[in-house]
Parts: sequence; structure tokens; C-alpha cells
Amino acid sequence: MYCRVSILLRKQFVSVLILCVGLVFSFTPARAADPAAGKAIFQANCASCHNVQKKLTGPALKGVEDRWPDKQLLHKWIKNSAGVIASGDAYANALYKEYNGTAMPAFPTLSEADIDNILAFVDAESNKVPAAPGGGGGTTTAAKSEDSGSSSLIFGVITLILAVVAVILMQINSNLNKLAAEKEGVDHPEPVPFYKNKAYIALGIMILFMIGGYFTIQGAIGLGRTQDYMPEQPIFYSHKVHAGTNQISCLYCHSGAEKSKHAMIPSENVCMNCHKAITEYTGEDLYTAEGKKVNGTAEIQKLFDKVGWDPKAGKYVKAGEPIEWTKIHNLPDHVYFNHSQHIVAGKVQCQTCHGNIQEMDEVHQHADLSMGWCVNCHRTTKVQFVENDYYKIFEKLHKDIESGHIDSVTVEMVGGTECQKCHY
Ligand code: HEC
Ligand code: HEC
Ligand code: HEC
Ligand code: HEC
Ligand code: HEC
Ligand code: HEC
Repeated sequence: MYCRVSILLRKQFVSVLILCVGLVFSFTPARAADPAAGKAIFQANCASCHNVQKKLTGPALKGVEDRWPDKQLLHKWIKNSAGVIASGDAYANALYKEYNGTAMPAFPTLSEADIDNILAFVDAESNKVPAAPGGGGGTTTAAKSEDSGSSSLIFGVITLILAVVAVILMQINSNLNKLAAEKEGVDHPEPVPFYKNKAYIALGIMILFMIGGYFTIQGAIGLGRTQDYMPEQPIFYSHKVHAGTNQISCLYCHSGAEKSKHAMIPSENVCMNCHKAITEYTGEDLYTAEGKKVNGTAEIQKLFDKVGWDPKAGKYVKAGEPIEWTKIHNLPDHVYFNHSQHIVAGKVQCQTCHGNIQEMDEVHQHADLSMGWCVNCHRTTKVQFVENDYYKIFEKLHKDIESGHIDSVTVEMVGGTECQKCHY
């Protein structure tokens, strides 16, 4: 009897459990939109005109879903805004007028899922409280990979301490030997103090030569190298403001990086695409590396002075002249380096070589650009070898992969450490 009841109860419990699980699943949407994926699409396609919090060429996108009557129309707008304007929608037409008839480009290639992802990203960003001015913006630039210098200092100190301990132990040892000898009544010669001991002196001189030689060679190799070089630029142009806070894609300005050897510095008309509309700086306080406060609006005015733009009249009033940016990265003439090879074929991130540029107000050289730096990366980095037409010609390596002889291919294996690849 008791047993029957318990089985019954258990059956009921199981069915309630199934019901609950079913309910939970029916309430979660079938496919959650992914803000991280949306961020990437936003940065590549939209960030040149839109920011979530601020008005740029286009409106601030914060809370945009609430402004549109329905989601479908909003999707349609993002795909092809001209179509929605032509259909006579009142809100769209008012908006178009408000922005002086600046048309947004059509994005026919974006899928519905892409747009959901973008909107999820916008939604997630909308809920973020903008960082308090001067509060550092919440970005942590500190302690990164650059602590290799301090670790060699630590090793140096440890070595020194160990050396001192060794000398003390040797002294103790010789004293003990002496005591033991005295006890046994053996005649023992008076030990030589260590600073007169020839072996110690020879060792000391050898160590001095090694240290001196090391620094001389390092100095000679380092000639012409400019790691951490951070010159003052004619305009205090902040990558943190543009590529960080406002999420403008690196390739919007350095479009050469994908197509050619040089990443290229953007010309002034690229700046003016945005700065015809953005005439003052209202973001977080800016400081130079020395801690001097920078007036962002005055820096934008410097740009206007250079290109001859009158922001009040809204037109060019005199012929412009180029801004003379100081070049930071410089490889010697005998080295061949190609950006597009690394960005397109190698799929290396800008930040791997240039550091977190999007957190720098002023750009400095992150890597030492030494031969060892290039070659070490080529030895350890794997290329995307399989199903990549670029590497079709390496038949032997393909066979080795198929037969399971090797499981990946490094840059070195496709010739990345041959002298003539990097040297003219
Ligand atoms: C070349 C600049 C430009 C680009 C790139 C751009 N937009 Fe726009 N966008 C605008 C302008 C300008 C408007 C204001 C309406 C008008 O003038 O057409 C606008 C309006 C909008 C609106 C309506 C805003 C509101 O307040 O209702 C949405 C949503 C929008 N854009 C989303 C996007 C998305 C998503 C992308 C990227 C896939 C994008 N835009 C790319 C310029 C741009
Ligand atoms: C709005 C335009 C713009 C964007 C976006 C931009 N840059 Fe720049 N970049 C510049 C300008 C202008 C300079 C020259 C002034 C300077 O060095 O600060 C420059 C300089 C640099 C330099 C130093 C070049 C030299 O002189 O050796 C590097 C490296 C660089 N950018 C990388 C990046 C990366 C990586 C990103 C994306 C995270 C990026 N930039 C985004 C405009 C831009
Ligand atoms: C594999 C390392 C590597 C990667 C990845 C890389 N760079 Fe560079 N970059 C360099 C080197 C090395 C130089 C110096 C080139 C020279 O002096 O000829 C340089 C120079 C530059 C310059 C100065 C102008 C020029 O073209 O010489 C800019 C701007 C720049 N890089 C931007 C970028 C951007 C933006 C990206 C990402 C899209 C990027 N770089 C990715 C290594 C790299
Ligand atoms: C895609 C749009 C866009 C482009 C292109 C662009 N800017 Fe800006 N710029 C902005 C925005 C957005 C701000 C921030 C405005 C604010 O926060 O009030 C800004 C701020 C500035 C500031 C003030 C803050 C600072 O960095 O010191 C200067 C100066 C400036 N830009 C110069 C330039 C120069 C020079 C170029 C060309 C190399 C350029 N900008 C290209 C959008 C752009
Ligand atoms: C962060 C890693 C990294 C660094 C640093 C780096 N490279 Fe590369 N490099 C790659 C990758 C990945 C490829 C593979 C792309 C390919 O196969 O073409 C490559 C390919 C090359 C090639 C073509 C090799 C071939 O077989 O065709 C040359 C030339 C080259 N790099 C030169 C340089 C020089 C010069 C430097 C230093 C100034 C450098 N690289 C620094 C990752 C790097
Ligand atoms: C992946 C690219 C790469 C390869 C492969 C390469 N080098 Fe270099 N080499 C460089 C770079 C970058 C420099 C500039 C270093 C500097 O400025 O300190 C350099 C500098 C040199 C120098 C000048 C001395 C110095 O340190 O500045 C000599 C000599 C040299 N390389 C010889 C060779 C020889 C020989 C080979 C073949 C065994 C070779 N390199 C392969 C990138 C490369």
C-alpha cells in the first residue's frame, strides 16, 4: 500500500518536473540575439556615422527600438532606408528632413539575424551609464605584456641575492673547515680573505666583462630602434576618442592596411567626412602624457584651420594644406613589410603588432620592430592552411596534413623565415 502511494507520488513529481522544464523553454526565445556579434557588424558598417549615446552624422541610436512603430519597419529601414522614405512613412520622412536629407547607405547584405544582433548590441550599450568625466573611462591600460622589463629586474635581484648567499656559505664553510682542523690539531694555513683570493677576483672580472659585453651588444643592435617612441603630433588627435569611445573601425581611416603594403594615414577629407558636422568636443576630459589638459574643441579648430573650413559659414573659405603628422613606425630600408599580407592572408589583428591603440590618446610604438620580433612570430604563428587558395602550391605540406604527419602549418614552414622574404 505504502509502496503504491510512493510510486504514484514519484510519477506525479516527474510529470510536474517535465511541465516546469517545458514552461521554462517555451518562455525563452527560440534564438537569442548576440550583442557581441552585433558589435562587430556595428563597428564595421555603422560606427562611422552612429554612436549609441551621441549624435554624429546620424542620430544617437539609444532607445531607437522604442521610437519606431514596429520592429519590422525598423529592420526594413536599416536594410534600405530610401525604400522606407519613399513609402511615405511619416516618422522616417521627418527624420530624413531633420538630417538635411543625408541619406543612409543601404545594407542589402545584412540578414535579419544580423540586424537583431546589431539592435541587441545597441540595447546593451544603451543601458550602460556613460563613464564619469575624468574617471578614466573604465578602461584599464595598466599592467600588460610590457612587464618583461620588470621581470628581468627581478631575476637580476634574485641572482645578486643568491650570489651573496653563495659567498657567505663559502666563507662559513672555510671557517668550519678551519675549526675542524684546529680541533683535530692539524696545522691549517690561515685562509686568505675573499677579496684577496685570486679565484674570486678572476670570477668577478669575468662577470663584469659579461655584463659589459651584453649591454654594449644590446646598445649596438638597438641603434635606430625606437620602441615606445611617442612624438608630439601637430593636432592632438586621440585614437581613444575615435577608435575607442566612438568605435570607428581602424580600416575606415587606415584603409590601405587591407589592400597594400602601407596602412596609410588618412587624408584631411576623411576627417572632414565627420567634422563638417562635429565642430566641438564634448567627451571626457583629455590629457597629454605629461598630464596637461587638452581642449578638444580647440584641437578640432586646428583641423579646420589646416583645411580652410569655416564652421560658422559651413563651407571651405580658403585652400587647405596637409597636416604634417610625425611618422612613428619606421623599418630600415632593407626590410620588406606588407600590411595586407598580414591582415588579409595572415589574419593578424592590428593590436597584436601595435598594442591597444584604441586605448591610447597618443600613439606610441608598441613593438621593438626587431628582426627577432618578426621571426619569432613567424616561427610560432600557425597559418590558416586548409581550404585556403593562397597556399595551394604547397603540395607536400597538404599531403603531410592529409596523412596526419603534421597537424598545423606555421608561417616558417611556408617560407616565412627565409632571408629574401623580408630583405630586399
Ligand atoms: C553614411 C552615414 C550612415 C551610416 C554608415 C549608417 N547610418 Fe543610420 N542614419 C544615418 C542618418 C543620416 C540617419 C538619419 C536619417 C536620414 O537622414 O536618413 C540615420 C538613421 C538611422 C536610424 C534611425 C534612427 C532613429 O532615431 O530613429 C537607424 C535605426 C539607423 N540609422 C541604423 C543604422 C545602422 C544599423 C547602420 C549600420 C548597419 C547605419 N545606420 C549606418 C546615417 C548613417
Ligand atoms: C578617424 C581616423 C582614424 C582611425 C579610426 C584610426 N586611426 Fe590610426 N591614425 C590616424 C591618424 C590621423 C594618425 C596619425 C597621427 C598619430 O600618429 O596619432 C594615425 C596613426 C596611427 C598609427 C601610427 C602610425 C605611424 O606614424 O607609425 C598606428 C599604428 C595606427 N594609427 C593604428 C590604428 C589602429 C590599430 C586603429 C584601430 C584601433 C586606428 N589606427 C584607427 C587616424 C585614425
Ligand atoms: C604583423 C604586424 C602588424 C600588423 C598586424 C599591423 N601592423 Fe601596422 N605596422 C607594422 C609595421 C612593422 C609598421 C612599420 C612599417 C614601415 O615602416 O614600413 C607598421 C606601420 C603602420 C602605420 C604607419 C604607416 C604605414 O603604413 O607605414 C600605420 C598607420 C599602421 N601600421 C596601422 C595598422 C593598422 C590599422 C593595422 C590593422 C588593420 C595594422 N597596422 C596591422 C606592423 C603591423
Ligand atoms: C567617423 C567620424 C570621424 C572621423 C572620420 C574623424 N573624427 Fe574626429 N571626432 C569624431 C567624434 C565622434 C569625436 C568626439 C566628439 C565628442 O565627443 O564631442 C571627434 C573628436 C575629435 C577631436 C577632439 C578630441 C581629440 O581627439 O582630441 C579632434 C581633435 C578630432 N576629432 C580630429 C580629427 C582628425 C584630425 C581626423 C582625421 C584624421 C578626424 N578627427 C576624423 C568623429 C570623427
Ligand atoms: C604577430 C605575428 C607576426 C609578426 C610580428 C610579423 N609577422 Fe610576418 N607574417 C605573419 C603571418 C601570420 C604571416 C602569414 C601570411 C602569409 O602566409 O602570407 C606572415 C607572412 C609574412 C611574409 C610573407 C611570407 C611568405 O612566405 O610569403 C613576410 C615577408 C613577412 N611576414 C614579413 C614580416 C616582417 C618584416 C615582420 C617584422 C617587421 C613581420 N612579418 C612580423 C605574422 C607575423
Ligand atoms: C621575418 C622577417 C625577416 C627575416 C626572415 C629575416 N630578417 Fe633580417 N631583419 C628583419 C628586420 C625587421 C630587421 C631590422 C631590425 C632592426 O631594425 O633592428 C632585420 C635586420 C637584419 C640585419 C641588420 C642587422 C640588424 O639587426 O639590424 C641583417 C644583417 C639581417 N637582418 C640579416 C638577415 C639574414 C641573414 C636573414 C636570413 C637568415 C634574415 N635577416 C631574415 C627581418 C627579417
